[in-house]
Amino acid sequence: MKLFIDTADITEIKEMAAAGVIDGVTTNPSLVAKEGRRLHDLIAEICAVVDGPVSAEVMALNTADMVTEARKLAEIYANVVIKIPMTMDGLRAVRILASEEIATNVTLIFSPNQALLAAKAGATFASLFVGRIDDCGGDGMDLVEQVMDIYDNYAFDTEVIVASVRHPLHVVQASLIGADIATVPFSILKKMPDHPLTDIGITRFLNDWEGGTRDG
Ligand code: G3P
Repeated sequence: MKLFIDTADITEIKEMAAAGVIDGVTTNPSLVAKEGRRLHDLIAEICAVVDGPVSAEVMALNTADMVTEARKLAEIYANVVIKIPMTMDGLRAVRILASEEIATNVTLIFSPNQALLAAKAGATFASLFVGRIDDCGGDGMDLVEQVMDIYDNYAFDTEVIVASVRHPLHVVQASLIGADIATVPFSILKKMPDHPLTDIGITRFLNDWEGGTRDG
């Protein structure tokens, strides 16, 4: 399973890249706005740190403008993936970009039919927002299971990104279902190595070492 980091904070990206645990990066307009930097500069800096796919979102809402923005973003680095919102205009943009071999990530997917259309249009990735479904009283992981089945049934190449991840259990659930990717905020990636028994075990080993007799 691939893990992406869902952030535009270069310090967070560098910290996780140094541990070798991330395969790519996803950003969105909210995350980029928090950094207060020009999108193209920020994406260039991220791509210099991470070899894998780096998603950058277009702000246009009509097909022609989305494609223009996407082509400019795709020029930054070969690993830039264009994030396109799940609309009919977006699907048309995905089809054009796919014909130009520009990778896309269809975002804001909340239903199996949206995921089906994204795959048919030729999306490289489909981002399923599980946390926002859970927020509305639904079960985001049901959507992941359904979309994985649909993509398997018809051998679509589109990879499923489990997005809007809110806690470490979402990552476990996504991996048990067999989702291709989970994109995980820094705060949640930081929690994943933690276990109280690991801490207790380290303390106990240290105490035994200090209290014992040994050579050297
Ligand atoms: O980047 C897309 C997605 O992961 C956003 O998550 O927490 O704003 O629903 P969230």
